[in-house]
Parts: sequence; C-alpha cells; structure tokens
Amino acid sequence: MEYEKLINGAIEAREYAYAPYSNFKVGAAVLMEEDKIFTGCNIENASFGATNCAERTAIFKGVAEGYKTIKAVAVTGDPNSYTFPCGICRQVIAEFAENGDIEIIVVKNKNEYMIMTLDEILPGSFTKKDLNN
Ligand code: THU
Repeated sequence: MEYEKLINGAIEAREYAYAPYSNFKVGAAVLMEEDKIFTGCNIENASFGATNCAERTAIFKGVAEGYKTIKAVAVTGDPNSYTFPCGICRQVIAEFAENGDIEIIVVKNKNEYMIMTLDEILPGSFTKKDLNN
C-alpha cells in the first residue's frame, strides 16, 4: 500500500535533515500523480527565515520535475509525538492538492500515525478558486 511507502519515505528522509540550529529533524514524503513519490527534509539556514520545511522541500522537488498534483502527504518530526505541518506548509499543500479530501499522514513512527484530511487541518482555505471568482 502507498501509505507504507510514504511513511517509510518520510522516516528515511528525516535522516537527511539539516537542522543544526533547532536540532529538530523533520522528514516528509508526498504522493503525486502517476503514483510518484518525492521526499524531503527540513533545511535550515543561519539566517533562520531562509529555512525550508521538509514538506515544502518534497513538494517543490515534485513540482520542479513536472508533477503538480498532491494525492497524499506523510510527515514525521519528533519520534515521540505527532508533528503536524506548519501553517505555511498547509498553504503550500493546498496549492497543489488534488482536493480537500487528500490525506495528511502524521507519523510518530512506523506503527503509530494519524490520518487527517487537508480540509480538517486547513478549514476555509484560501486558494486559486478564490482568485478566479
Ligand atoms: N519544520 C518542518 O520541517 N516542517 C513543519 O511542518 C514544521 C517545522 C522544521 C522547520 C525547522 O527546521 C524546524 O522544523 C523547527 O521549526
């Protein structure tokens, strides 16, 4: 099942996190069209605002290779608790999500994860539909 691949992808990607300032490592995996999976980690910077979250790293990798539709996202941070996508990442997920029902898999470890929809974690989202009105 794709979930297992996504969960493992996020856990493996966390190993590559560049987080010397926060020491908080995050990994993400995003399922896009054609069942393509892209993974990413957080990449920090001495100028803290230049930091990129794991979710956006994964999404931007996909977009940069021609994939623009997100079907599911897995994210994992602290292995002892559930790390949800930050607000900016929720907004970026919304930009490319197939619809509001896509699943966000919040992973504590291989066997413990929560599944929520994008609409549940980002209700009343502002997206291109608003600009097209
Ligand atoms: N971080 C992510 O990678 N994803 C999130 O959704 C939450 C925050 C990273 C950014 C920063 O490198 C570290 O976690 C602490 O905020």
